[in-house]
Amino acid sequence: MAYDAANLSEKSALDAFWLEEAKRLTWMEAPTVASDVSFERDDFRIKWFEDGVLNASVQCLDRHLAERGDKTAFIFEGNDPSACERISYRLAHEEVCRMANVLKSRGVGKGDRVVLYMPMVPEAAYAMLACARIGAVHSVVFGGFSPDALASRIEDCGATAIITADEGRRGAKAIPLKANVDLALERLAQPPKLVLTIEVTGAQVPLTPGRDILWSEERDEVAPTCDPEPMAAEDPLFILYTSGSTGKPKGVVHTTGGYMVYASFTHEKVFALQTDDVFWCTADVGWITGHSYIVYGPMANGATQVLFEGVPSWPDAGRMWEVVAKHRVSILYTAPTAIRAAMREGDEFVTEHDRSSLRLLGSVGEPINPEAWRWYHDVVGEGRCPIVDTWWQTETGGILISPSAKSSDNKPGAATTPLPGVLPALVDNEGKPLDGAVDGNLVLTTSWPGQARGVWGDEQRFFDTYFSTYPGTYFTGDGARRDEDGDYWITGRVDDVLNVSGHRMGTAEIESALVAHASVAEAAVVGYPHDIKGQGVHCYVTLKQGIEASDALATELRGHVRNEIGPVATPDRVQLSPGLPKTRSGKIMRRILRKIAEGQPDQLGDTSTLSEPLVVESLLKGAEKFA
Ligand code: WTA
Repeated sequence: MAYDAANLSEKSALDAFWLEEAKRLTWMEAPTVASDVSFERDDFRIKWFEDGVLNASVQCLDRHLAERGDKTAFIFEGNDPSACERISYRLAHEEVCRMANVLKSRGVGKGDRVVLYMPMVPEAAYAMLACARIGAVHSVVFGGFSPDALASRIEDCGATAIITADEGRRGAKAIPLKANVDLALERLAQPPKLVLTIEVTGAQVPLTPGRDILWSEERDEVAPTCDPEPMAAEDPLFILYTSGSTGKPKGVVHTTGGYMVYASFTHEKVFALQTDDVFWCTADVGWITGHSYIVYGPMANGATQVLFEGVPSWPDAGRMWEVVAKHRVSILYTAPTAIRAAMREGDEFVTEHDRSSLRLLGSVGEPINPEAWRWYHDVVGEGRCPIVDTWWQTETGGILISPSAKSSDNKPGAATTPLPGVLPALVDNEGKPLDGAVDGNLVLTTSWPGQARGVWGDEQRFFDTYFSTYPGTYFTGDGARRDEDGDYWITGRVDDVLNVSGHRMGTAEIESALVAHASVAEAAVVGYPHDIKGQGVHCYVTLKQGIEASDALATELRGHVRNEIGPVATPDRVQLSPGLPKTRSGKIMRRILRKIAEGQPDQLGDTSTLSEPLVVESLLKGAEKFA
């Protein structure tokens, strides 16, 4: 057993365990009840610590002030290696209060939604916490999304205010965040009335009078203190959009009490946090990892963290390791895609920097292949640092399955053991529970405090997506294998969700972007194994009558998807094909498309049910150039 836990399979024991853990927070009114949960259709509800009252920003700021107000919250490492700044919890508290006061003075209040579109600067964390302070619900949209993607998220959550920056810096590039916001707002029938812009690069940006305000002009006009809004444990804290197998991205809703308990608990336990640790999570605040393991978990725990504005490849491929040495990072938490990219650059970029400060390494976001695991362990960690391969999801709020930071016999590529109070199970495609060493669909049979509470504006979709496939359980969308020791190995998504460089992407989203192009009749998108990204995006596209296929058009379509969704979704391959393989009832046979993209034409299986079997021949031929 990797974690110390009593027998937590009974509801009473689980409730007692979590009620005890809830004491890690500073409540305005402490909860007296733990869970009130049912995954059943007729009686569906997920509630934790229901009678508790708290404010998330108090956990992350105020309660540290008396004893560790001067402790460094963030070591901000700028994109430019010479730009570095230390920010204490006291200063962070002040800045958050000021931003909260600015929002308040402009009429933003409890329950209002605020969209954040920010680079990786301390103000991104301040903005999240400022919203939390006044009870507004933030929804961070990753800065790599396009104006269209931004607009649809603003519209879906009905945001009344936006917080952004003039520009973001990523290596040699400047990202025009404010200009993207302007474009997004032009597309909306009822655009938000307030845009607060943080000046990061100082670039001149157009300002719309009556709507746009600048942080530098507002900051000194308001007080550095702000009373925290008392929030019920089940009041929403944030919405975060994520991709599913169908339809447009869902606004996953997390609430205050349970999420905060779980973020703090998992951050402390999984990383065996010590007071003098320097924690560096390389995720962007636009993803759940940035929410739980840069802002809410570590800050609730009073940790010192590196906050990195730039990219690991700039000014050179040694940047990550330079930062580790410079700030004496003790815990590094990153993604397999970054590890694979670094591995390709050669060991010297790593070994020329001192890594003696590292004591623990973490991995998140996608399955880590054993080769990358070993390199991370042997080269980066000099063979002395355990690796925690943490499995979780936007919907789980925090880590659910991970090896212990203390175990030395980790298995390369295994997420291994559930955390205390987490009860995973494997089921077959009919939902039958599977025992022993076996492959299956990964479900959770009980709730945990960090579990998502809903999909914004669409409760039915929440139930249907996660609780209807295998009734009575939460279905993760992942497949997993359990070995003879009872350890879990995540095998990847079993639905139509792609994981490209650790970014979640729905094939349906990319398909609808493609068919929105004037030349496209039909599109089907699948993933294929990619050395660095984990998965690459392979698009099969049939053109409208009379449109001629050409390389130029394929390139144009790649650019089109990039514009519609953002650079993260740029297709690796666009294959123009005369048709798609369909069953006689018209269903696209994705299994066949996947096998072709994977370069396994001998494993197509039975193609006799296809309406036009000859399509496969031409698809195979068309795919040859990608081999
Ligand atoms: C995948 C990221 C294998 C998985 C925190 C999951 C992983 C999806 C791991 C969620 C891991 C995440 N090993 N696969 N350690 N961690 N995944 O919502 O397929 O961006 O369902 O949350 O990433 O991605 P999301």
